Amino acid sequence: MKKSANVLVLPGDGIGQEVMSQGLRVLIKASEIFEIDLSIEEDLIHGQAWSEYGTFCRDETVAKAKDSDGVLVGAVGGINGETLPHSSNPEENDGLMRLRKELDVFAGLRPAVVSSSLLDEIPYRSEVSDGVDIMVLREMCGGVMFAEPRGIESISSTEKRGYDTTSYSTFEIERLARVGFLLARRRNKRIVSVDKANVMESGVLWREVVQTVGDEFPDIELDHVYADNCSYQLAINPKQFDVIISDNLFGDIISDQAGALAGSLGMLPSASLPFLPAIGETCTRGIYEPVHGSAPDIYGKNIANPIGMILSISLFIEYGLGGTEEAEIIRNATEKTLAKGIRTKDIGGQASSESITDAIIDEISYAST
Ligand code: IPM
Ligand code: MG
Repeated sequence: MKKSANVLVLPGDGIGQEVMSQGLRVLIKASEIFEIDLSIEEDLIHGQAWSEYGTFCRDETVAKAKDSDGVLVGAVGGINGETLPHSSNPEENDGLMRLRKELDVFAGLRPAVVSSSLLDEIPYRSEVSDGVDIMVLREMCGGVMFAEPRGIESISSTEKRGYDTTSYSTFEIERLARVGFLLARRRNKRIVSVDKANVMESGVLWREVVQTVGDEFPDIELDHVYADNCSYQLAINPKQFDVIISDNLFGDIISDQAGALAGSLGMLPSASLPFLPAIGETCTRGIYEPVHGSAPDIYGKNIANPIGMILSISLFIEYGLGGTEEAEIIRNATEKTLAKGIRTKDIGGQASSESITDAIIDEISYAST
């Protein structure tokens, strides 16, 4: 494992700031225990950056991110109910989208694991959800969220037309598929690829390219599923899934749906990587962020669930620094804390953001003595 880490911290908006301050306590504790020489630089993104600098993501921030071992992001969203400017360019419109594109972190790993301690909190019967462990791999830098042409135009004095384009090249599909098959090889050797090849040209190409990459991985079982059916199958029989690969839009939706399995969106971490490092190897400039949003309605109450952030930090330790066992210690500490019944409000408890983090830190210290 790499023993020095240069981390860019972007707490972002709303509860992003709260979960980040708890997450950093875990990271600092982990750096003491695992003897990582940690250098942290903090900056603003999205709403906060807009208020301060009049832009959602400064060039300096992009440069610092490119220079880092990993970027930690809390959450981004609106600020003080202010109407923020809208541009048809997603990179101008959203600080996080710019960062994802500039860092080319196309591989969005969004694991959704059902904690056996939370079975009573999950809106599924336990025989359906117990043991679910899914890796959603979402394409992060292309598709309808970025492709041109896009815009809103007037077509008459009373009518406008808003349009977006879904577009994927062979290269974009191939590089994502390859990461998916490599992940499947590390896991249960099953992969489901999601598309709408029945109605979309980009889906036809998606299916064809994924199948071609799949031919290089005869040890992995590949299924192609239409996105609507994937959603249905995820609801009725989630245990059939291991790795799911999908484009940017379907992956955005499916990863939120998988959040219902984890008990709360607040539980879900993510790692967006420019490539998949070999086990124990490192990967610089990944972005690690919880899947949840900035939740202004609960901001400032010290009740936000920090677990999505803490698990994102474990992904940074695993993929950014090559610390496979160290990341597992953090995941186990989280699991043990939940098993003790310590829970935030979103997962049926009373614990504050701070007290659940205290408990997780205690478990990390205990596991390492
Ligand atoms: C996510 C979020 C973002 C996305 C938003 C905040 C732009 O929903 O990370 O899933 O759509 O990717
Ligand atoms: Mg989303």
